[in-house]
Amino acid sequence: TVGLKTRVIGSRIVYFDTIGSTNDKGKELAANGAPEGLVIVAEEQTTGRGRLGRTWSSPKGRGIWMSVILRPEINPMDAPKLTLLTAVALARTFDSYPGIQPGIKWPNDVFIKGKKIAGVLTEMNAELERINYVVVGIGVNVNTSRAELPPEIENIATSLYIETGKSWSRKDFLTKLLEELEALYLSFKMGEYAAVVEEWKKYSVTLNKKIKVTSPGVALEGTAVDLDDDGALIVRTRDGSLKRVVAGEITFASR
Ligand code: BTN
Repeated sequence: TVGLKTRVIGSRIVYFDTIGSTNDKGKELAANGAPEGLVIVAEEQTTGRGRLGRTWSSPKGRGIWMSVILRPEINPMDAPKLTLLTAVALARTFDSYPGIQPGIKWPNDVFIKGKKIAGVLTEMNAELERINYVVVGIGVNVNTSRAELPPEIENIATSLYIETGKSWSRKDFLTKLLEELEALYLSFKMGEYAAVVEEWKKYSVTLNKKIKVTSPGVALEGTAVDLDDDGALIVRTRDGSLKRVVAGEITFASR
C-alpha cells in the first residue's frame, strides 16, 4: 500500500510491472465487475495510448501510468466533467512542488512553462442514459530525462525531473494525486461542480487566448472566452458570435 487516506479512489490497487495499456486493463476489469475506485498502475506501458489515437510514451519506472475505474451515476453527457476534474487534481498535485506552476490546456492537458507534463484519457462504457463505467487514464512524466523523451515530443514535452533537475518519489506523487482526485470526485458526486470549474479557470492557460478548434467535424477559430458550468469551452469567433465546444482539441493560434 502507499499509505493512502482515501476511501474510494485507490481502495484497491492492482500493480503491473509491464502492461500494454492500463486503460485497456481498466476496461477489461470494469467489464468484469471491478468496483469503483480500483486503480491500475504500471511501471511501464508497451502500447500506452493518448487522446485522438496518439501513442503515449511510458518508459519503465519514469512516470505514473495509471487508470482509475469510476461508476458515477450521471448522464453520459456529463462524463467530460470527470476529465476536467482530473486535470484539476493533477494541477493541485503539481502545485505542491516547489517552483512548479501548472497550467491546464483545455480540456485536460497539464503544462509547465508551455510544455506538456501530464495528460488524461477518459474512456467510457454507457448505455443510453446510464454510465456503466468510466476509465480515467492518467499519464504523468515524473522522472523522465530529456534524452528519454521520444524525438518527436522532445521540444513540446517535459517532466518534473527536467523542470527541477531532481528525481521525485512517484509514490508520493501518486498518493497526493489520489487524495486530490478523491476530494474532488466526492464533492462532484454531491453536486458541487461549480467550484471545480472555478478552480479549472484559475489554472487555465487557454482562456483569453486565440485558438483553433480541431475537433472531428468542427473547424472553428476565435478567442477562448470562458468555460461554462458543464465544462464546455466558449469561443468567440471573428463575427462576434459565441460557440460552445464540448469535446476535441485546440491549438493556440499565432497572432
Ligand atoms: C493525452 O494527453 O493524450 C492522454 C494521455 C493519457 C496517458 C495515460 S498513461 C495511463 C493510461 N493508459 C493509457 O494507455 N493511456 C493513459
